[in-house]
Formats: sequence, structure tokens, C-alpha cells
Amino acid sequence: MLASLASSKGTTHAQDLSPPKNRVALVEVNVNNVGLLRRLNATLFPVEYKDGFYRDVVQSGELARYVYLNDVCVGAVCCKRAPLPPSLGSGEGLYLMTLGILQSYRRLGLGSLLLDYILTQVCPKNPSLNQVFLHVQEGNQEALDFYRSHGFTDVGMEKDYYVQVTPSDAHILTKTVSP
Ligand SMILES: CC(C)(COP(=O)(O)OP(=O)(O)OC[C@H]1O[C@@H](n2cnc3c(N)ncnc32)[C@H](O)[C@@H]1OP(=O)(O)O)[C@@H](O)C(=O)NCCC(=O)NCCS
Repeated sequence: MLASLASSKGTTHAQDLSPPKNRVALVEVNVNNVGLLRRLNATLFPVEYKDGFYRDVVQSGELARYVYLNDVCVGAVCCKRAPLPPSLGSGEGLYLMTLGILQSYRRLGLGSLLLDYILTQVCPKNPSLNQVFLHVQEGNQEALDFYRSHGFTDVGMEKDYYVQVTPSDAHILTKTVSP
């Protein structure tokens, strides 16, 4: 209808042939959409996360986010407050439990987007959580490279951190976030 009106008045509309822009959104994890997180984690990680993990995540508010690319959920990050490991001192830090991007969507900057959200939006609001730390399975070079590229330092290994997963040892990585 609109097109025929336009042509009857002799108007020509240039067609927009530029590629559509990618739409990226960070979305909270809640009780209604947590099933997505279960499916992502089953695909992304060798470890099985129990119901308690998902119950805590839906309560964690800003500490967990999905990343959507053009309305498709392609990854997520989940953190919690946790006591620092002894090698990092005393007190609490922000523990990065999971961060993953589906294989076909990697190296597009989406993992960085989720991590930057945690480092630049969550941590500054919680100055007591200026130390971010996580475990990375021995041999997971992709993740080690990713975190190193974001200024994380490897502060040692935790032996037999993983149960029923080989290799069972984990690197402990950490980054101090300035307020
Ligand atoms: C680690 C992971 C989250 C990275 O996500 P991603 O969206 O691919 O990361 P980005 O595109 O933001 O990468 C940022 C930088 O990290 C480094 N990096 C990421 N993947 C890398 C790889 N496979 N090899 C070397 N460097 C890598 C690069 O410096 C990269 O920048 P560049 O692409 O400009 O070179 C993703 O590989 C993943 O989901 N892995 C499986 C789950 C996992 O092991 N999570 C970590 C433990 S919680």
C-alpha cells in the first residue's frame, strides 16, 4: 500500500543495500529463562552444574548475564561472591564461575563483552569485590589466552580441583580491578 502510494506520486526510494548491523544485548538470567543457561553450560563445559548452581544464579541479579547476538542467545557469564583462595589473601572476591561462548560465535569479541561487563560495571559498584578470580582447567589454552589478553595473571595451580574430569588440575587466574 505504502509502495504504491509512493510510486503514484513519482517518489523513488533508494533501497538500503548495506549489510544489517549486528545487534548485541546483555540479558539477565532469571527463573523464566534459566533453562537456556542449563543448555549452554551442557554444551560449553565438561563439568555438570547441579540444581543448586542454577538456584544461586537466578538469585544473583547483576552477577549473571546472557549475551544475545541478533536475538540468538550465544553465551553467558555467571559470578558469585566468594572467599579469596589463601594465595590471594583474605576477604572476599568476585569468583567467575562460568563464562562461555558457543563455538561458532567465538573470536567476535562477545566473551570480552561479558567480561568487560563484569569488570567495568559490576566490580566498580562493589568496591569490596575488586579482586576477580577463577579456575581454568589445565590444557584449556583458549581460555588461558583469553584471560591473559584481559590482564589476568596466573598465580598457580590447584591440584585435583576438578572431580571426574581430566585433566583434574586447574590454573588460578586473578585480576585486581581499580575502583
Ligand atoms: C574463552 C572464551 C569465553 C573466549 O570467548 P570469545 O568470544 O571467543 O573471546 P573474544 O572474541 O572476546 O576474544 C578476545 C581475545 O582473547 C584472546 N583469545 C580468545 N580466544 C583465543 C584463542 N582460541 N586463541 C588465542 N587467543 C584467544 C584473543 O586475544 C582475543 O582477541 P582477538 O580475537 O582480537 O585476537 C571462549 O573461547 C569459550 O567459550 N571457551 C569455552 C568455555 C571456556 O573454556 N570458558 C573459560 C573458563 S570459565
